[in-house]
Parts: sequence; C-alpha cells; structure tokens
Amino acid sequence: MSKVYKIGVIGGDGIGPEIIREGVKVLKSVSEVCNFKLEFIEYDFGGERYLKTGETLPDSAIEEFKKLDAIYLGAVGHPDVAPGILEKGILLKIRFELDQYINLRPVKLYPGVETPLKNKKPEDIDYVVVRENTEGLYCGIGGNFKKGTSDEIALQLSINTKKGVERCIKYAFELTKERNKKKTLTVVDKANVLTYEGDLWRRTAMELSKDYPDIKLDFAFVDATCMWMVKNPEWFDVIVTNNMFGDIITDLGAITQGGLGIAAGGNINPIGVSMFEPIHGSAPKYAGKNIACPLATISAGGMMLENLGEKEAAKLIEKSIIKALSEGYIKSLEAGKMGMTTSQVGDLIAKFVKEIK
Ligand code: IPM
Ligand code: MN
Repeated sequence: MSKVYKIGVIGGDGIGPEIIREGVKVLKSVSEVCNFKLEFIEYDFGGERYLKTGETLPDSAIEEFKKLDAIYLGAVGHPDVAPGILEKGILLKIRFELDQYINLRPVKLYPGVETPLKNKKPEDIDYVVVRENTEGLYCGIGGNFKKGTSDEIALQLSINTKKGVERCIKYAFELTKERNKKKTLTVVDKANVLTYEGDLWRRTAMELSKDYPDIKLDFAFVDATCMWMVKNPEWFDVIVTNNMFGDIITDLGAITQGGLGIAAGGNINPIGVSMFEPIHGSAPKYAGKNIACPLATISAGGMMLENLGEKEAAKLIEKSIIKALSEGYIKSLEAGKMGMTTSQVGDLIAKFVKEIK
C-alpha cells in the first residue's frame, strides 16, 4: 500500500492562493508517478478572514496542525491589515507553537537564471542558510514605557537560550556532514558588539565541533558576511545564524540566486510538523493577475517532499525546474516577464516531473 501524507494548505493573502495552487498541482503530479498519496486539507487563514472575523489563527488550528504531516504555505500580508498582526498572529505563531526551530533556506543559482553577481556561475552559488527560527529578537519580549511622551522608551529583547542555540548549531553541523561538499560551517554573528549572545553562539559551536572533526568551523561577522555573499559566495557551504540576521541575509541570498521568484524555505521541527513556503511575501500588486512566478512555491513543495523522505520525488521537482529554466521555457523569474502565466508554469513543471520520471 502506498504511503499517504496529510498536508495542510494555507494559500493566505495576495498572490498566495495562486502560487500555492500551482505548487499543489505539481505535488499531485509527482505523487502519481512516485507511488505515494497526498491528502490536502485547505485552511483560509489570512487577511480576508481576519478582516471578516477578527481572528488570525485560533489555538484549535494549532492542535489540528499537530496531526498533519506538513504544512504548505503561500504568503500572509494584507494591505488593509496593520503590519505585524498577520505576521505575528499566523506565520510566527505557527513557527513558535509547532517549535519549528530551524528555518532552512538554500541559496542556489540554477543554470539559465541570471544573477546580479558579476561573473558568478551556478557552481559559485550553492550554499544553505540555517536560520534559528524561534528565538532572538523574534521572541516578542519587550514593551513601550511612557509612550508618546518625550521620555518614551522602546525595549525589544533578544533571547538566546543554550538549548535553542545548541539544537540549531547541531542541525547545521549535521547538514554540513550530509551535504558532504566543502565541509565548512560558518557561524554568522556580531560577536564584536553583541558580546553576550555572540559568546554563547561561538562557545556552543566550538563545543559541538569536537563531534565533527571533519568539518571546518568558521566564524564571520554579519556585516562582512553580506559583503562576501556578493563578492565570494563560493566560499560558503552552510551558514548558521540567529533569527534576525538570518532573515536579513536570506533576502540578499535570494537576489543572488535570481530573485524572490525562486527562493524557497522550510520551517523545520525535525521531530514534529514542519512548514514549507516561498520566502517572498504576498505581493498584493500582482494578486489575481496570474502573472506571479510560482517556482519558489513549487521548490518549497520539493523541500517538503525531501523532508517527508520522498527523495526521488523531490529530485524530480528540482530537475524539472532546472529543465524549464535552462532550456529557456521560462524567460524570467519576475512577475509578468516569465513569458507564460502562473498557471502555465505550474502545468509545465507538472508535465516535466512525469516526463523526466
Ligand atoms: C520571512 C519573513 C517573515 C520573517 C515576516 C513576514 C514575519 O520576512 O519569512 O523571512 O521576518 O521571518
Ligand atoms: Mn524575511
């Protein structure tokens, strides 16, 4: 009997529903040739629902999510909802409540894709950022004091626990070992200024490195890392960093791999329910036009299958994306410039996964 996976699908806002539809299309197609089944359970969480009901994501939904095999998310963010409400109320709530403590973001330039980095080729841009996903400045601890007066104070705390840092760096070491490429793990921090958290991260990395004698451990400051990601991306294999730095450097990484149209990520709980999403947002200006690039979402679907253990299916999706890009089927990753519609890109990849198999 073939395996059945229960996947929660949250289209969300803006272009979210359109791109997730194409992702689901590709996943269904690949499941048909790889002998497993996917059962999709759709949820309407997002800006529209919030505007109608005042609800972002009820606790009961979290309990339901715990029974799933994975979650597939489009995007959240609505022009009529104040910043922070949907992000914290839906996206961050899922990451935190399901303890998805790793945000895995590959930075990989595919053949046929243009990078803004001069003279860099696919073999130069192929690394993974392991972003801590449940702590740091994202913990939401802080507040305002004497708000609106000239004595106003705003406090935003960065929490770094030994447990949180350790499990994140350990994951990164394991990933470096599994990739078996440059065997280099770079810890990215700001240990020259943020000395307390920097010390915890560096000390923990050095302790763990004793268990990984074949892996070279490097340290780099986040500001310099931004420069090297542009100048010498070929130096990197696996980067591990805190939540805030990881957020910032992965947008930079995304543009070096051709843009947000292709960059995918996974919010991973290695022993629980993980969530996969494109790293771009809801792009309201492109919504409903069938012009947004669904490749980041399709690629996130591939990461989901990889994580579920369906390695062959994940490879088929990646190979199909590479074929579509390197053979010129898709002209650009920018919305409206792909030379085909969002749904045509989905059709194409759904067809390729079957042909390549
Ligand atoms: C991301 C996004 C989110 C983050 C926002 C929408 C809360 O920028 O996934 O990178 O900051 O983590
Ligand atoms: Mn971000």
